Formats: sequence, C-alpha cells, structure tokens
Amino acid sequence: MRVKRRCHIQIWRASPSDVEPAQWRDLTNLLDLTERSQAFKFRQAADRNAYVLAHGLRRLALAVMLDVAPTALVFTYDENGKPQLIAPKHPPIHFSHSHTRRGVVFAASADVPVGVDAESVGTEPLDFALLSPFVDCSASVLANKKHSPTTTFYRHWTALEAFFKAVGSGLSSAHPRLRFVPDPQGHWKVEFDAHQTPDITALASRAVVMPITSPIGCMASLAILEPLGEDITLVVHEKELSANVELNFYP
Ligand SMILES: CC(C)(COP(=O)(O)OP(=O)(O)OC[C@H]1O[C@@H](n2cnc3c(N)ncnc32)[C@H](O)[C@@H]1OP(=O)(O)O)[C@@H](O)C(=O)NCCC(=O)NCCS
Repeated sequence: MRVKRRCHIQIWRASPSDVEPAQWRDLTNLLDLTERSQAFKFRQAADRNAYVLAHGLRRLALAVMLDVAPTALVFTYDENGKPQLIAPKHPPIHFSHSHTRRGVVFAASADVPVGVDAESVGTEPLDFALLSPFVDCSASVLANKKHSPTTTFYRHWTALEAFFKAVGSGLSSAHPRLRFVPDPQGHWKVEFDAHQTPDITALASRAVVMPITSPIGCMASLAILEPLGEDITLVVHEKELSANVELNFYP
C-alpha cells in the first residue's frame, strides 16, 4: 500500500549585499573557531563574506528549527566532506548549504535528505564543456526553446551539485555521467548514462531536483531523496534571512 504524506523542506537564503556593516560582526560571532579560521583562509573578501554568511545562516536556521542557541551547534564533516551536526542532541535533520559571492542558500528537512546548490550567474564563462564530463545537457540545449543557454547552463550545474550533495558523495569525475529527465510535475528525475554503483543507482531512483528562488544574481537548485513507496507532497517554505531572524537578537 502506498502511503501519502507531506515532506516539509525549509529553504533560507540571503545575499551578502543585504548585510549591514554591523551585522558582519554579529554573524562572525556566531561561528566557532574552526569556521572563523576557515573564513580567514579566503583571500578575497567577497568569498570570505559568502562563507561567513552561509555558516551564520546555517546556525540561525537550525537554531530556529531545533530550538537551541546558534552557538550551541557543533558540526563536523564526514569522510566525503558532508557536514554533520554532532551536538547538541537533536532529532534527525537533513541539511545542506551553498555559498557563492552573490548569495547563499540553506535547506533543511526532518523528512527527507536534501542537497542545495547556488551559483552566481555570469561570473564564469558559459562553457558547456565544463559540465559535459558530469552531466549530459545536449538534449535540453537543443530541445528547450523556453530557456536561454545561460538558464540551461546554470540549471544543470546547480542541479548536478545539489544532487551529489543530497547523496552525500560530493562531485567526482569517477561518477558516470548523469542526465536529468523532466517528470510530469516539472521536476527533474536523475538517470545515469552508464553503470553506477548499486548504492548511487538506488539513491538516484529516488531523487527529485528542482529550481528554487535564489538570491538576486544567482541560480539555485534543490535536490531531495524522496522515501520509496510513498506518495509525497513537497511543502517548500522559503525564507529570507532579514525577514525572519534579527541577527542582533543573539549577543
Ligand atoms: C560539494 C561540491 C559538489 C560543491 O561545492 P561548491 O559548489 O564548490 O561549493 P558550495 O558552496 O556550493 O558547497 C560547499 C558546501 O557543500 C557541502 N559539502 C561538501 N562536500 C559535501 C558532500 N560530500 N555532501 C554534501 N555536502 C557537501 C559543505 O557544507 C560545503 O560547505 P563548507 O565547506 O562551507 O562547509 C563539491 O563536492 C565539489 O565537487 N566542488 C567542485 C565543483 C566543480 O568543480 N564544479 C565544476 C563542474 S560542474
């Protein structure tokens, strides 16, 4: 019997250009020593700011969702670089974030694994050859008259990275090429060109990828791994940092 249920996903987004000068100090104060030292490894201020905003946003959003102080959250990374929340004790939660100079995005769900990716549009050359080892977008480029090459490029790029973040492996040239196939809801399903490991094939068969509202100047995608054997309704709550959280609320 198939079970019908709702899967709730929260998406938070913010742009470095919206952060007031005094709020940078508040955001930096939320980060732990590891995050701060990582931030200061970025040579360009724009990259450093994006990192600080993404990590601050992740703490603020998870603090709201788990009802804890943002500075109480302790993270580590698994062997593939996937972030893990190890303290305080909390109910299971899946989360993912992305930082790019023009905007940052955070996604979280208690229901389904999620991956999110954002890219600043127009800062990289539109080079489909960059994507071709990872994703086959030839059919979409030729068939899709609705979207510009720029939209097609960034949609595939962010969908690709969001998918591999949801899976948890990160992007690697060792993966066979994948392609995105639209489903009746307008989301993308994931298929591989060649044989993939049974684990990733199983995860891909459950994946759904979709564009999400992104900070101005960016494009972003969300990937989820839906539970097998269930009819789900996705409920995506989108939030702006400034509208939802007073940064200076946290001393
Ligand atoms: C994670 C990945 C897919 C994308 O990273 P990115 O686009 O460079 O950077 P983003 O800001 O979007 O994401 C970085 C975050 O992903 C998360 N991440 C890293 N590895 C991850 C993994 N295996 N699973 C899930 N999330 C992961 C981390 O939280 C990281 O943030 P942090 O380092 O600040 O903690 C990375 O594996 C990668 O391969 N990067 C190279 C991208 C590339 O060369 N693209 C060009 C071809 S399309």
